[in-house]
Amino acid sequence: MQGVFITIEGVEGSGKSTQLLRLSEHLRRLGLPVVVSKEPGGTALGRELRRLLLERHDSGETWCSEAELLLFYADRAQHLETVIRPSLAGGKVILVDRFEDSTRAYQGASGVAEATLDRLSELVLRGLRPNLTVLLDMDPEVSLQRVEVRNLALGGEFAETRFDEAELDFHRRVRNRFLVIAQNHPNRVALVPARDPVDQVETAIWVRVAPLLRSAGFGVD
Ligand code: TMP
Repeated sequence: MQGVFITIEGVEGSGKSTQLLRLSEHLRRLGLPVVVSKEPGGTALGRELRRLLLERHDSGETWCSEAELLLFYADRAQHLETVIRPSLAGGKVILVDRFEDSTRAYQGASGVAEATLDRLSELVLRGLRPNLTVLLDMDPEVSLQRVEVRNLALGGEFAETRFDEAELDFHRRVRNRFLVIAQNHPNRVALVPARDPVDQVETAIWVRVAPLLRSAGFGVD
């Protein structure tokens, strides 16, 4: 039996981690074989790359967008080879916090050409696509306030702030790119309004996940 590949996407502070945790707990309670992972950082190499990519660095050097893109793809290549493909071959339900759509949204918003994104995607993904992508949609003006509250609550110790600190206008472009992806892939992408109460968001996600799992042969009732 082939597994099921589900990704969750959205701007910072849209509630991905909370919803991913709720969904994974729900699936475990049902006795399903669940793997939870994330990009960047789903492997040992990925954790090194995540630190490099997301923490502030002191060199003062601006990274060119292609260099950044290739680091995200190095993370993805290792993750696909050692976690995602083996999980699918082993019949697992794999839930991944961010995947290719994040690259298209963020690196696209940083100016990487669509053709470059297409070529890398073809090279590394070799046609593999999530069975379902949950897009938690939210106005970045609101979601970034949530991020600020979280960072303050962590006493300023939260180091992964490189993208959080980008201009609001950048995050608006990211959101719009996500919305275009959803429009272009209506069968794969479930657009879920993320400002609703957490329980309501969880239900909206389940309404899309349950039929997919049923059709893949998993008992979810
Ligand atoms: P997160 O763990 O809070 O989702 O943060 C990951 C950050 O990395 C977030 O700002 C989005 C960014 N990112 C990209 O720019 N491109 C990518 O391909 C991925 C996976 C993440």
